[in-house]
Amino acid sequence: MVKICCIGGGYVGGPTMAVIAFKCPSVEVVVVDISVARITAWNSDKLPIFEPGLDEVVKKCRGKNLFFSNETEKHVAVADIVFVSVNTPTKTSGLGAGKAADLTYWESAARMIADVSKSSKIVVEKSTVPVKTAEAIEKILTHNSKGIEFQVLSNPEFLAEGTAIADLFNPDRVLIGGRQETPGGLKAIQTLKDIYAHWVPQERIICTNLWSAELSKLAANAFLAQRISSVNSISALCEATGANVSQVSDAVGKDSRIGQKFLNASVGFGGSCFQKDILNLVYICECNGLPEVANYWKQVIKINDYQKSRFVNRLVSSMFNTVSGKKIGILGFSFKKDTGDTRETPAIDVCRGLLSDKAQLIIYDPQVPEAQMIKDLSTPKFDWDQPGSVTHIAEDVVRQSVEVVHDAYEAAKDAHAICILTEWDEFRSLDYQKIYNNMQKPAYMFDGRNVVDVTKLRQIGFIVYSIGKPLDPWLKDMPAIA
Ligand code: NAI
Repeated sequence: MVKICCIGGGYVGGPTMAVIAFKCPSVEVVVVDISVARITAWNSDKLPIFEPGLDEVVKKCRGKNLFFSNETEKHVAVADIVFVSVNTPTKTSGLGAGKAADLTYWESAARMIADVSKSSKIVVEKSTVPVKTAEAIEKILTHNSKGIEFQVLSNPEFLAEGTAIADLFNPDRVLIGGRQETPGGLKAIQTLKDIYAHWVPQERIICTNLWSAELSKLAANAFLAQRISSVNSISALCEATGANVSQVSDAVGKDSRIGQKFLNASVGFGGSCFQKDILNLVYICECNGLPEVANYWKQVIKINDYQKSRFVNRLVSSMFNTVSGKKIGILGFSFKKDTGDTRETPAIDVCRGLLSDKAQLIIYDPQVPEAQMIKDLSTPKFDWDQPGSVTHIAEDVVRQSVEVVHDAYEAAKDAHAICILTEWDEFRSLDYQKIYNNMQKPAYMFDGRNVVDVTKLRQIGFIVYSIGKPLDPWLKDMPAIA
């Protein structure tokens, strides 16, 4: 029986390994993590992450060929294939701070693999890593290996949170990079290919050299984010000219060379990956003496930041240039629907922007717990974003100014304005007449996800701002935004 061990039981490691176990009953899969809380949750009825379809898959395999454990060394020691799916956040201090990937977790995992291994292993990069990381990993493994053979493969994950299980069941492609120039490398690639071949058609399994696989993941995320920033940049022009961004993106996307996906204008992209992977790409370009390329990709993030601050500015300027003491109902906090993940969610920047103008926020999200929201709003992002700095909002201020409630109607009650920051399906079918009746007047709606029917809401009496849509006459008369 092939034994797989995955180091890191997060948003990627957990669902990916659950699907491998589900599709390959003859393979034993153990997910290990240093977090006791995460492993306890994986072994309980309340899994640590919310992902449609995940519960069913885990329940079918757990205890049979899928296990979750904190005994990392024990399981790594006996595995044939070790996936490494630890977090690779942006460095917050030191060389490359704010751009480079922090490979601390990766390096410690690699050192541990080298220390405890007694048999040859295939080590698979599942985390998104800078191009050429495999070279560093090979060095760590071979310098400590006591003669054991390690093959390093790059097998980046392309799942999207919210549709992870569907994506894993039916991936557009599986990418495996390895040392194609050596027999050992080719054998390792084939071994991993055989695992995926249990359910993925051969033609969708792409094999490349290590560096192409590593770079493809960064490039894919950069391309995806670039589409969002492109349409968001056009949304600003739509508002200035009276064009409608939904009509523009529909017309543009009908061109088969462009395609319709990922062309929805919004308050901005979030999630743990897009920003960090682009920053990382920018850093790698700079390190390789390619400042023009670095600047090109940097712009994708600048537009994303611009879109978030544009939204806050629009809101504040529309409400007579101040939201001080005003109640703003926030609908949605996660970075997109069908996930409870809040990493880099635009809601953090928007809420912080409103808090710094002294608004009172009443937040509702179907999946994000209150403690997570408070933490997100009060935790400094970088070492320079510390108590005392202009960007930092102290936890006691957040607690005084934020109330977390359990449904959308409660969030909107007595509010001066509503902001939709996540496109949860339930926000499409709310009784907006009832919401309007219970709000302060004039009642504002700021739709950051193009969720509401603008015409219908205007008929009810709302002053509506929906990103990239023709402006309400009321908003046109307000001071120009930055
Ligand atoms: P995560 O933060 O949810 O999970 C990482 C887990 O690794 C944590 O539970 C942490 O406790 C554990 N860990 C860290 N160091 C460890 C060690 N030495 N030994 C054992 N466990 C350790 O991160 P997530 O979202 O699963 O991402 C993992 C990687 O996958 C990142 O590189 C990310 O860029 C990439 N990725 C993420 C996607 C996503 O949608 N979240 C999609 C595709 C790739």
